[in-house]
Amino acid sequence: MSSEASRKILVTGAAGYLGSVIVTHLLQQGYRVRAVDNFMYHQNSLLPHFINPRFECLPGDVRDRELMARAVEGVDYIVNLAALVGAPLCRQREKEAWEINYEAALMLESLRAPGQGYIFPNTTSGYGTQSPVSGLCTEDTPQEPISVYGKTKVKAEQELLTRPDVVTFRFTTVFGLSPRLRLDLMPNDFMWRALRQGALIVFESHFQRSFIHITDIARCVAFTIENFEKMKGRCYNIGHERMNKTKRDLAEKISELTGCYLHYNDLREDPDKRNYFIAFDRIRAAGFEPRVDWDEGLRALYNGLKTLHWTNPFANVEYY
Ligand SMILES: NC(=O)c1ccc[n+]([C@@H]2O[C@H](COP(=O)([O-])OP(=O)(O)OC[C@H]3O[C@@H](n4cnc5c(N)ncnc54)[C@H](O)[C@@H]3O)[C@@H](O)[C@H]2O)c1
Repeated sequence: MSSEASRKILVTGAAGYLGSVIVTHLLQQGYRVRAVDNFMYHQNSLLPHFINPRFECLPGDVRDRELMARAVEGVDYIVNLAALVGAPLCRQREKEAWEINYEAALMLESLRAPGQGYIFPNTTSGYGTQSPVSGLCTEDTPQEPISVYGKTKVKAEQELLTRPDVVTFRFTTVFGLSPRLRLDLMPNDFMWRALRQGALIVFESHFQRSFIHITDIARCVAFTIENFEKMKGRCYNIGHERMNKTKRDLAEKISELTGCYLHYNDLREDPDKRNYFIAFDRIRAAGFEPRVDWDEGLRALYNGLKTLHWTNPFANVEYY
């Protein structure tokens, strides 16, 4: 294993919403980063890093075995973010979703040398549709994903956790700004609609969800690399109970910031059936806690999104 300062991290999906912020954070922490991405959204989010001698990029597809064999050479850790992300996209491109989110994730695992740590993000959407009797979902709560997206991620996680030197995350819904901005995530989407349309229509406002700010995801990845030996072999819910909120909580905070009109329509169904709160004891016991709180994170999102003037490509998509 390399010395701390020179550890090399392979990040796939590096130009994505999370990847762009994670790569920046890892470079700031002194790591060397090898990025792989097929730039399917024509992202330019990694361009500032090419001047950095600790950054290198292998453009291409994670399904390309020869490329990925080169990509794993000499790295200490693999952070495998590349995926088709979200229920609508995976429904439209189901075959590719299985190839990228599941098969390529396992292929990459098989290509690594002994001792190379593997970090894989799953989603809490696998927890199914109802709160457990105890009230909070833990890592032991059965996963019953309802979307192709959730199914690909859960199946990959289950198989990866049978292999050595693997850590998986179950991220709650991430929000905040990134150079590859996603506006299909609930807080980002609500804020954008509130700013652009001056109104928010919220279905099933009592639904319970858990959130985390994107900068805390980047901190969590670096923390896991630093603490890999004691964390390996397990999955971790990533978030904090103080960010367990209802859709109504979110809408009201956004209305307070933007002054938008709020309308609750509980006669319409939310196609995303997630409705549960989550417990984070395990990651807290490992020593990690998110830092960005609800008010701070949403205010930053508000300040950032109101500076943008382009059109929301997701404006006609009704997720909520
Ligand atoms: N954002 C969230 O709330 C959230 C929550 C839970 C889990 N995750 C997981 O985190 C990871 C990153 O998600 P994100 O929000 O950054 O999404 P994203 O779509 O912004 O990032 C995915 C990246 O993967 C790249 N990619 C897609 N197919 C590829 C391929 N075949 N070869 C190479 N690169 C490819 C894309 O170009 C993109 O840069 C995903 O694995 C996702 O399942 C995200």
